[in-house]
Amino acid sequence: MTQPKIRKAVLPVAGLGTRVLPATKAVPKEMLAVFDRPAIQYVIDEARDAGIEHIVFVTGRNKSAIEDYFDRAYELEDTLRQKGKTDVLGDLEAILPAPGSVSFVRQQAPNGLGHAVWCARDVIGHEPFALLLPDMIMVPDDGARQCLAAMMDVYGAEGGNVIGVNAVAPELAHQYGIVATGAQKSQGFAITGMVEKPPKGTAPSNLYINGRYILQPEIFDILATQERGAGGEIQITDAMRKLMADQPFHGLKFAGRVYDCGDKIGYLRATAALALANDAFGADALAALTDEIAIAAAKAR
Ligand code: G1P
Repeated sequence: MTQPKIRKAVLPVAGLGTRVLPATKAVPKEMLAVFDRPAIQYVIDEARDAGIEHIVFVTGRNKSAIEDYFDRAYELEDTLRQKGKTDVLGDLEAILPAPGSVSFVRQQAPNGLGHAVWCARDVIGHEPFALLLPDMIMVPDDGARQCLAAMMDVYGAEGGNVIGVNAVAPELAHQYGIVATGAQKSQGFAITGMVEKPPKGTAPSNLYINGRYILQPEIFDILATQERGAGGEIQITDAMRKLMADQPFHGLKFAGRVYDCGDKIGYLRATAALALANDAFGADALAALTDEIAIAAAKAR
């Protein structure tokens, strides 16, 4: 069966970034550079690679740098043009979204991820959509597909709702949403349950929700009346669990690494990994990082 195309994606960017303060005191965490570009650029690239045509950012106060990033920087571009820096100009041009292909809505209070998604309901309308949490940067294994693109295949084959998952160590499972798994499908597997931040030792599997979702619009009706859950916040996981009563959910295990840039060490790892993976700078990055590690190891002896 042909499924309706997923055209739009929601990116919730209203979070305060408290785990990476003071870096995020005046700069949105999504705009912190992961090697040579803002963290959010990698997530936008993943969405575009999966065929997404329109992105809805759910922003909050002090996030205007994100809007500026997706606009022209007239003076900068003019100066680069006068200096003949056409290669950098080309890079800036390539990241500029098509006119009218991004929208911004405000989440006025930090009421949780479910509430942030609900804030995008009018712009999404009655069609299935993707949800990408921009803290999570995905790096596919060699030859593997990017996470959302691979999930689109599961959606194409099975329809319904699709969730990206990865394996997590049991001692860290309580920090995430965890799924319970059912039958293997031609692509992906059936999800039979899910729980947000299960108490230690109670996780139904070792597969955590990695921050990539394909959701049917009925989720908005559930979110409209969703009660607060883990952490006193309105949780998307709780709303999805309710939607499971009426609609199928499938999981796809992403073949690659997931970097949580909302965490200082995750952010450091992402920066190192993406510098090392960079075509132009990878070799120099490897030399520089190897050098720094040798210096630190010598000091520690
Ligand atoms: C959110 C989701 C959780 C998911 C996680 C991935 O949690 O609620 O299910 O596993 O993102 O990063 P948060 O990181 O906002 O606490």
